[in-house]
Amino acid sequence: MSTNTQTDNRKVTTLRLSAMKQAGEKIAMLTAYDYTMAKIIDEAGMDVILVGDSASNVMAGNTTTLPITLDQMIYHGKSVARAVTRALVVVDLPFGSYQGDSMEALHSAIRIMKETHADAVKLEGGAEIRASVERILTAGIPVMGHLGLTPQSINKFGTYAVRAKEEAEAAKLISDAKLLEEIGCFAVVLEKIPAILAKQVSESLSIPVIGIGAGGGTDGQVLVMHDMLGLNKGFSPRFLRRYADMGKIMNDAVQNYIADIKSSDFPNENEQY
Ligand code: KIV
Repeated sequence: MSTNTQTDNRKVTTLRLSAMKQAGEKIAMLTAYDYTMAKIIDEAGMDVILVGDSASNVMAGNTTTLPITLDQMIYHGKSVARAVTRALVVVDLPFGSYQGDSMEALHSAIRIMKETHADAVKLEGGAEIRASVERILTAGIPVMGHLGLTPQSINKFGTYAVRAKEEAEAAKLISDAKLLEEIGCFAVVLEKIPAILAKQVSESLSIPVIGIGAGGGTDGQVLVMHDMLGLNKGFSPRFLRRYADMGKIMNDAVQNYIADIKSSDFPNENEQY
């Protein structure tokens, strides 16, 4: 039997996220990439489910988010949206589907909305992708921004270290966050930046700010599902809290299954026809 700590099980909308920020209610966001996991996460009462391009890493085994395609994001988005009744579902626009050309960005976002039935899209970047964000918004598609450590730019950064520690990068981040709010984004993710900067940005914006590795001063938090469930042994940054050791639970279960087969314990008389 699944349980849900939420009292309001109406569908979460961008309007409701805005009201949550005004009321000081923290927003819970987690990634999902498939039907089964999305159903469990939605039934547990998650506010926002992100079909992140981190699927490239945790589902496909790539070392970066760059290789995942629009078609693959649509496949994951469809699987998740089919499972969800409560959470707001946001799908990442993958690398190469929105940066160069705002019309291409619009077509990519429209494909995601039409084919997945998700509620919104997320794009990485600030002023440099302004035209793409504005064009998508003209079609009535809600856009979530993403600043700070933007993994699609890993080859420019050369490192997954904390961003915006220096004054110039922090100033650009503040101005990009304001810009994303002004042009109509409904929320912004801030990834791996100093907590004090994330708090300052959250307090200066009226749209919700969701942090990952950005401290407790944001309006909500997001983690990658595989990381917080302990399915991703090799990844243990300081910001990650592990809520389960699913890797161990699954390894134990699989070892027991193998042992039961080898010893002819499985199947027993009650497990056959
Ligand atoms: O792709 C993703 O999972 C993300 C989160 C880390 C915010 O963008």
